[in-house]
Amino acid sequence: AQQVPDILSPEFAADPYPAYRVMRDTAPLIWHEATQSYIVSRYEDVERVFKDKSNEFTTENYDWQLEPVHGKTILQLSGREHAVRRALVAPAFRGRDLQEKFLPVIERNSRELIDAFRHTGSADLVTDYATRFPVNVIADMLGLDKADHPRFHRWYTAVIAFLGNLSGDPEVTEAGERTRVEFAEYMLPIIRERRGNLGDDLLSTLCAAEIDGVRMSDEDIKAFCSLLLAAGGETTDKAIAGIFANLLLHPDQLAAVREDRSLIPRAFAETLRYTPPVHMIMRQTATEVTLSGGTIPPGTTVTCLIGAANRDENRYRDPDRFDIFRDDLTTTTAFTAAADHLAFALGRHFCVGALLAKAEVEIGVDQLLDAMPGLRLADGFDPVEQGVFTRGPQSLPVRFTPVTA
Ligand code: HEM
Repeated sequence: AQQVPDILSPEFAADPYPAYRVMRDTAPLIWHEATQSYIVSRYEDVERVFKDKSNEFTTENYDWQLEPVHGKTILQLSGREHAVRRALVAPAFRGRDLQEKFLPVIERNSRELIDAFRHTGSADLVTDYATRFPVNVIADMLGLDKADHPRFHRWYTAVIAFLGNLSGDPEVTEAGERTRVEFAEYMLPIIRERRGNLGDDLLSTLCAAEIDGVRMSDEDIKAFCSLLLAAGGETTDKAIAGIFANLLLHPDQLAAVREDRSLIPRAFAETLRYTPPVHMIMRQTATEVTLSGGTIPPGTTVTCLIGAANRDENRYRDPDRFDIFRDDLTTTTAFTAAADHLAFALGRHFCVGALLAKAEVEIGVDQLLDAMPGLRLADGFDPVEQGVFTRGPQSLPVRFTPVTA
């Protein structure tokens, strides 16, 4: 049998896709000692875990990872408790709230970042744009003071470093834990103040949300806002970097999207399939579960490899090819983010922010293409993805013909 590289090895981090193929083909269910979990890689298994039709899984095992930086978030809740919390927060990210309140916020924040480099003819699409845009959007949606955005960014950086700290670097751990304290000291007074003075922003919506007399506590709202840094920031950051990296490496498809902007949703969906921002999701078995012919005892962690499932040849033809025109991928529409790739997960924990992310990417890509005619990679630059749990290019230097207004 072919050797399967360890998911925590440098070789795997450099390029996980060959390893994903070996897993799907020869070891679709493997026990991984270091993470104490069973790993699944086939589309049908990952889909089944996410959909969880028979209530076989919980997300309790997220506690060790998320509790130290965020406290208790929606992602750690299961069953009825999760359903209520989900119903309290989800409406803020779709429908009229999204269309009327937040689209202008997205447009404004994208434009501000682009204005800083549009006249120069060069930019790094990751550091000048992708890492800043979604975090600015969240801060602005929450109705936080613009002067506080740099602080918000510092916390964002510390939180994602904490969550990606595979080697357990104590300084990174300590900075993450400190962030939890600083974030609470900052947010809790704002939440208390906002309760008495509701406005039109996301924080006010969260403060006012109520179902059958149930509301979120100050602590619940603070934990949710903290989760948004990682869940809404890092993911969208990597999606924007990914869509541009993929298009720049396929100039004919970039030209097609530039020419016909209605192709942006296809390019987004194909990017999420081909290079998903989140590669690994964990669940815990609530009962004995059978996956790919193997039996997993209750109380065991299952690691779902989204990056592997999205390239399963039993689901997508020629899966290792980036092709925005493929006809075997369902793309999202303006009203639903449902797609058949697994980048947003499926089922109960399906990404709450999927429509928001879609709006951010669609608006961002459209504005960037307008501002950057003749867009190309900087000479000699080859985009490389980094990361294991989350993955994307860390830098994307580009050149273009500056447009003078
Ligand atoms: C959940 C991916 C953007 C907020 C998730 C999950 C995935 C995901 C895979 C499921 C996690 C699990 O089941 O364990 C993505 C990707 C994004 C994105 C790829 C960008 C392209 C956003 C945005 C927001 C957001 C913009 C909000 C501002 C959330 C929240 C959850 C979630 C709150 C937890 C939902 C729950 O537990 O019910 N996301 N996300 N995400 N996402 Fe996103």
